[in-house]
Amino acid sequence: MTTLQNKTALVTGASRGIGRATAVALAEAGAHVLVHYGRSKQEAESLVVEIQKKGGRADAISADLGTPDGASLLAKQVRSTFGDRLDVLVLNAGISKAARIADHTVAEFDSLFATNVRSPFFLVQQLLPVLGEGSSIVAISSLGAREVVGKPGLENASILAYASTKGALETLVKNWAAILGPSGIRVNAVAPGIIDTDMSNFTKTEVGREVALGMQALKRIGKPEDVADVVAFLASDGARWITGASIPVDGGSKL
Ligand SMILES: NC(=O)c1ccc[n+]([C@@H]2O[C@H](COP(=O)([O-])OP(=O)(O)OC[C@H]3O[C@@H](n4cnc5c(N)ncnc54)[C@H](OP(=O)(O)O)[C@@H]3O)[C@@H](O)[C@H]2O)c1
Repeated sequence: MTTLQNKTALVTGASRGIGRATAVALAEAGAHVLVHYGRSKQEAESLVVEIQKKGGRADAISADLGTPDGASLLAKQVRSTFGDRLDVLVLNAGISKAARIADHTVAEFDSLFATNVRSPFFLVQQLLPVLGEGSSIVAISSLGAREVVGKPGLENASILAYASTKGALETLVKNWAAILGPSGIRVNAVAPGIIDTDMSNFTKTEVGREVALGMQALKRIGKPEDVADVVAFLASDGARWITGASIPVDGGSKL
């Protein structure tokens, strides 16, 4: 069984969806979890209470990761809570956008890269002093980093800008893994397929559900817990010889 007894963990975007399930999984494995949120204060605080009621340790912490100083403000709060040691960093907070090529705007493009790429980049930079031998970083990428998802076509909505943020994130993961490996820090990505969260609202329609199931070997919609369990494993000593990897968690999508 995965154990993270006496470990400290930060999960960004833990108020909802995959981040929330990940915070629960890490807390159940014994970690003291910082539940980071942006706008969803109530959800984050209720998660903290839920974890504490089950005997776990958690605190809520907020920062807008779409702003230039969001990552450094968050890192400051993490360091003041945990002191000099962060064992697990889950880079999960993210936003997506589906639109026709013609309808993508500069502001939305910049916002996607600010939240999905710039904030993880500077969060790792700012937290380096408290990461060390045995620490594990897990970035939540996407199937979209490697595969074209949806029906290509100029008249169809596409997630190409979002997908390219995840390609950039996976490139960072490889570079971080190479640079931080000698310090004993492992860095991996998890690449979910379609997971039932607010971000993938389209799976709640019959058509959306059919599109999702049509590309998967396993015939159900993925759940946040399907991803969270893999993140918890990667964060644990069981994954001590894995670094620089991207693990698909997609029910066998696009095989
Ligand atoms: N769902 C999928 O099908 C899927 C597939 C592949 C990859 N992913 C990736 O998995 C990760 C989590 O996605 P999800 O589906 O769980 O999404 P979600 O339910 O929409 O949750 C997104 C989380 O990110 C936080 N967040 C977004 N923008 C933020 C900002 N500017 N500052 C601070 N926090 C911010 C949100 O916090 P607040 O609500 O508190 O603002 C929320 O906790 C993302 O990186 C996403 O790209 C999702």
